[in-house]
Amino acid sequence: MFRAMDIDDIPGVMTVEHASFTVPWSADAFRNEMLHNQNAKYIVMVCDEQIVGYAGMWTILDEAHITNIAIYPDYRGRGLGQQLLYQLMELAVYCGMVSMTLEVRVSNQAAQHLYTKFGFIAVGVRKGYYSDNQEDALIMWADLKQFAPIIISSESNQ
Ligand SMILES: CC(C)(COP(=O)(O)OP(=O)(O)OC[C@H]1O[C@@H](n2cnc3c(N)ncnc32)[C@H](O)[C@@H]1OP(=O)(O)O)[C@@H](O)C(=O)NCCC(=O)NCCS
Repeated sequence: MFRAMDIDDIPGVMTVEHASFTVPWSADAFRNEMLHNQNAKYIVMVCDEQIVGYAGMWTILDEAHITNIAIYPDYRGRGLGQQLLYQLMELAVYCGMVSMTLEVRVSNQAAQHLYTKFGFIAVGVRKGYYSDNQEDALIMWADLKQFAPIIISSESNQ
């Protein structure tokens, strides 16, 4: 089940965050996003009555910037990450976004495969983008106009 992230979800999101990233966001960072950033949109995925994943983006003009997406380790490899990304892309289209972008560590093959599966292509590199190990970031973009037909066909199948 997916729903919009709520302030009360932050402890559960932090569990996923700490298990997923070497430089995790703080609870305050999520609180700020929720309370003070009108362009921020976050969703959580709930399984077995707990938060097992979350994803977020900033909507800037007609571009959606993915800020983070993560699935708790015990729940990975079951197709949940792609369901989560699908929901986020669907939300972006609903919000009028025409393209979507993100940065991903060059070593993060799992995430890159996921993004490629959903039509993202690598368009450049940010050198030394990550502060913990100065790793480069791959910049990826997706054309959401290509994503729209997927939504239509998925709805028509229901
Ligand atoms: C990236 C992440 C969200 C994927 O979640 P997941 O639930 O394991 O992904 P899914 O099971 O839905 O897999 C979807 C696709 O992702 C890719 N993928 C997932 N795990 C992979 C792995 N270990 N190796 C290679 N590709 C992988 C595959 O393309 C897969 O599709 P396929 O099964 O048809 O091959 C998860 O690994 C994660 O939370 N990682 C830590 C946080 C992170 O790196 N976030 C991205 C920051 S940019």
